[in-house]
Amino acid sequence: MKFKYDKSSVSEEEMQKAAEGLFSYTQQLKEVTQNGYDDDESSINLPFDKEMLDRVGAVVADKMTPGLKYIIVIGIGGSNLGTKAVYDALHGYTDILNPDRYPKCIFVDTNSPTFLSSLSAFFHAHVQQPEEIVVNAISKSGSTTETIANTEIVMAELEKKFPMVSDRLVITTDFGSKMWKAAEEKGIAALPIPEKVGGRYSVLSSVGLFPLAMAGFNITALLGGAQNMRDSCLSEDIGKNTALASAIILHSNYKQGYVINDNFIFNPELESLGKWYRQLLGESIGKRDDVGITPTVSIGSTDLHSVGQLYLGGPKNKITTFISAKNEKGNKISNKLLPGLVDGIEGKTPNDIMSAILEGVKYAYGNRDLPFMEIELGDISESSIGAFMQFKMMEMMYLGKMFDVNPFDQPNVEDYKSETKKILNK
Ligand code: PA5
Repeated sequence: MKFKYDKSSVSEEEMQKAAEGLFSYTQQLKEVTQNGYDDDESSINLPFDKEMLDRVGAVVADKMTPGLKYIIVIGIGGSNLGTKAVYDALHGYTDILNPDRYPKCIFVDTNSPTFLSSLSAFFHAHVQQPEEIVVNAISKSGSTTETIANTEIVMAELEKKFPMVSDRLVITTDFGSKMWKAAEEKGIAALPIPEKVGGRYSVLSSVGLFPLAMAGFNITALLGGAQNMRDSCLSEDIGKNTALASAIILHSNYKQGYVINDNFIFNPELESLGKWYRQLLGESIGKRDDVGITPTVSIGSTDLHSVGQLYLGGPKNKITTFISAKNEKGNKISNKLLPGLVDGIEGKTPNDIMSAILEGVKYAYGNRDLPFMEIELGDISESSIGAFMQFKMMEMMYLGKMFDVNPFDQPNVEDYKSETKKILNK
């Protein structure tokens, strides 16, 4: 992964000074690496947790079947966004073009009547054996309305067809939660989440690892990418520590009035990764009237034809992160059908065109003095996505320190959850 920030409106000297102010926290993070799951930051130890990997591996071995076709992932927010990010980056974006590629993940997050009734019809029409599916219901608290309601609906529907389908259910939740206890009582397989690992920091725990392993992804490579990144992000060398550098840039730009962080992604298959980050930044830092970077996700080049004018001509209140990865797939353009309409495309690949557009956009941003940083993933793979996610989760920890907020809680999300429960209980 390459990280560049020369157009970020923060000087080298400011970067260094801010970094030095965070070295005591870097030291604290190094200590966290020795403490298992005792600290709020302990998600940084997940990539190295062999025991967890073995536990997930055992349930995968138990539930894997030769004919597995669908992994129904029921969860919301931190309980599904990370898994969806990895899945969409590697398979999901092209699923519609690969109808015969199995297993597929089907994500059930909000209580959409349309989606749920279509899913029921789909089960009846397309699932012939219980071994073709596995359902993974994920809720850290074990009490999120949407997730519990969706689990009830999905399982009740499946039970109509397969009376013993609870054998195909795996619950992922905090050890000892009500959901955990219910799983124990009913003999349903369950995977724990370390208590101090919050939802949006949990993709590298059983939350993400189980469904991704069931879907055939290389979770060892995912964790490997995160391991290397964790070590870099503990460095006091700002040239190596991208989490520290990026956090300083976001913080400094926020103070200069760039209160929106647009993540402008030039590989559309990474849109869900952008949305995973949107939750991470929004929920971790948006904590006070005067503290909160608003994260947005834009897709290149699609959104240049939608909000490009606003970005290039509108208020200067955004710091942009351009995210791209080289992808040499696709044929060269022969330009025989419509010659002369667009000069310069003959012999070019889709990657050449995307690169040219991204370069053009960066020049246009530079011409208007719009601040930006750049992340280039070498490729789109389990390893590069694991590295990106670890980088961003550690960026959040440094940002929390700089803004003096707790990046691990979400008190106001809890407000809506308890209000909803009151209404449902009237
Ligand atoms: O990041 C978070 O903590 C939240 O977004 C939660 O993941 C989300 O609210 C779902 O909660 P739970 O996993 O308890 O069902």
